Amino acid sequence: MSTFKFIALVVLLAGTSTLANTYAECQRPKSQGQQLQGCPNGTIYVSQTDAQAEYGTIQGAVQSLSNDNTTQYILVGSGNYHEVVNVTRQGPLTIMGITPNPSDYTSNTVHLFNSSFINQTSQTASQDNADAVVLTISPSRNASLVGSGPLGAPLQPLFGNSDFRLYNIDVANRATVNGVEYTSGDTGPSAALFVSYANASFYQCTFASYQDTLYVGRNGSALFVGGEVTGTTDFIYGFGTAYFENTTLSSRNTGGGLVAWKGSEQWYGPNTFGAYFNNTKIVKAADANTTLDLTHTRALGRPWNNQSRVVFMNTYMSDIVLPQGFIEWSSSDPRVFPNVTHFIESGSYGPGYNASARNYTVESIISSEEAKKDYSVSNVFGGFPDWVDGNYVYE
Ligand SMILES: *[C@@H]1O[C@H](CO)[C@@H](O)[C@H](O)[C@H]1NC(C)=O
Ligand SMILES: *[C@@H]1O[C@H](CO)[C@@H](O)[C@H](O)[C@H]1NC(C)=O
Ligand SMILES: *[C@@H]1O[C@H](CO)[C@@H](O)[C@H](O)[C@H]1NC(C)=O
Ligand SMILES: *[C@@H]1O[C@H](CO)[C@@H](O)[C@H](O)[C@H]1NC(C)=O
Ligand SMILES: *[C@@H]1O[C@H](CO)[C@@H](O)[C@H](O)[C@H]1NC(C)=O
Ligand SMILES: *[C@@H]1O[C@H](CO)[C@@H](O)[C@H](O)[C@H]1NC(C)=O
Ligand SMILES: *[C@@H]1O[C@H](CO)[C@@H](O)[C@H](O)[C@H]1NC(C)=O
Ligand SMILES: *[C@@H]1O[C@H](CO)[C@@H](O)[C@H](O)[C@H]1NC(C)=O
Ligand SMILES: *[C@@H]1O[C@H](CO)[C@@H](O)[C@H](O)[C@H]1NC(C)=O
Ligand SMILES: *[C@@H]1O[C@H](CO)[C@@H](O)[C@H](O)[C@H]1NC(C)=O
Ligand SMILES: *[C@@H]1O[C@H](CO)[C@@H](O)[C@H](O)[C@H]1NC(C)=O
Ligand SMILES: *[C@@H]1O[C@H](CO)[C@@H](O)[C@H](O)[C@H]1NC(C)=O
Repeated sequence: MSTFKFIALVVLLAGTSTLANTYAECQRPKSQGQQLQGCPNGTIYVSQTDAQAEYGTIQGAVQSLSNDNTTQYILVGSGNYHEVVNVTRQGPLTIMGITPNPSDYTSNTVHLFNSSFINQTSQTASQDNADAVVLTISPSRNASLVGSGPLGAPLQPLFGNSDFRLYNIDVANRATVNGVEYTSGDTGPSAALFVSYANASFYQCTFASYQDTLYVGRNGSALFVGGEVTGTTDFIYGFGTAYFENTTLSSRNTGGGLVAWKGSEQWYGPNTFGAYFNNTKIVKAADANTTLDLTHTRALGRPWNNQSRVVFMNTYMSDIVLPQGFIEWSSSDPRVFPNVTHFIESGSYGPGYNASARNYTVESIISSEEAKKDYSVSNVFGGFPDWVDGNYVYE
């Protein structure tokens, strides 16, 4: 091996090892009174049990922050937090969960949850999906409303969080009915996460619910590294831009598409609105009803409007995936338009990838070279975003 190659290899290995998360030392569990060692200066500590903590709830710590442009950090101790968290401030905010292993979401020790859903049968005009959410990153309720739609100019120049980061926290909407988890079907929209008018990234976090689990809406950009998203009908939806890298996508049941997205040709900004997936995995949820046979039922996506864009790259498809792949919205309202609707797969593999059964009226297959050229993180966000943890993300 030449010296140059050897140096290149060392640099490569060093680069690989720094894929470990930036705040690993801060997040490592320590003895009482020592927990903030290794954390950024000024980190606020939340714990239900440690006397050193300043707050017992996550929302308490978030509300203590002023709405300015300063960078803030919150460290959250192990526990089950039954609360709703809204982040409305503009300045950068990083919230970290204490964990023995930041690179593995199955080791997460911080669990944030609430139980709420929108009953679409009895829904009133003033109710919006935004009213049944566990974690919302948005400057106001108005800015987070799904009903505000993707078209037209922005309501007003609203700006939410410029750089929100969440590490190693499980977020669940339990969507219970009369205190009992509703496992026999969907209750209605019940999100774990909403992002609107904000830039946000999530590292080894999980988002679990049933219908409409994860939403990235108007003027929202979000990037997810690792972790898991669990749901039933249309469980990843929105009309902003969402990018998932190495995330597990778990179905508790079928219904709609895995993704339901709206695009826009008319709105301001680059038209890269869409949901993008690289190195992800589509599987039956570990906690799905074991008697439920999901084989060949999970549609990859359906168009919330005809300008929908969904791209799966290098994704493992278990046998739950529908052989046809993507589907139309409904037979009476298909919303699939050639060259307007962009449903794409590249490098799919596994028993759920049936190239000859895929519906090429609805979707197309592209090479990995084309995928890298058009749908890298840098291309999708118009340059590598300065609001993500560069240690953790492919450019
Ligand atoms: C840490 O922050 C405090 C108050 O915000 C400040 O007084 C102190 O100088 C800072 N220390 C360092 C090392 O930045
Ligand atoms: C944050 O900075 C931007 C410009 O950099 C400014 O427009 C905005 O008003 C600031 N926000 C707050 C809350 O100070
Ligand atoms: C949180 O869940 C409780 C039930 O546990 C529910 O009554 C409440 O409306 C929920 N809050 C929000 C903001 O969704
Ligand atoms: C924040 O939480 C409250 C309920 O606790 C809710 O009414 C409000 O709409 C939420 N969203 C925002 C963005 O403030
Ligand atoms: C929210 O939007 C409604 C309807 O457009 C408007 O009447 C109301 O003033 C807005 N509220 C805030 C706090 O901006
Ligand atoms: C989000 O990041 C983009 C660049 O990736 C930037 O143009 C935009 O202003 C940011 N949005 C907010 C709310 O800070
Ligand atoms: C599991 O599914 C079976 C058949 O699909 C159903 O009869 C049963 O009620 C379900 N169990 C739960 C706990 O929802
Ligand atoms: C939704 O509302 C309808 C009409 O009020 C009611 O019959 C139904 O039980 C509700 N669904 C759930 C899951 O609560
Ligand atoms: C992807 O996630 C799995 C856990 O689901 C983890 O074992 C693996 O190291 C991750 N790969 C990369 C490249 O981060
Ligand atoms: C393929 O998609 C077209 C357009 O939505 C639809 O009409 C047709 O039924 C689909 N074919 C299959 C086999 O799903
Ligand atoms: C779609 O775009 C391709 C390439 O630009 C073009 O050849 C084709 O005619 C278009 N199809 C329709 C139906 O517009
Ligand atoms: C996807 O992941 C691979 C590594 O598995 C990486 O080489 C590639 O740049 C990533 N992005 C795209 C768009 O393929």
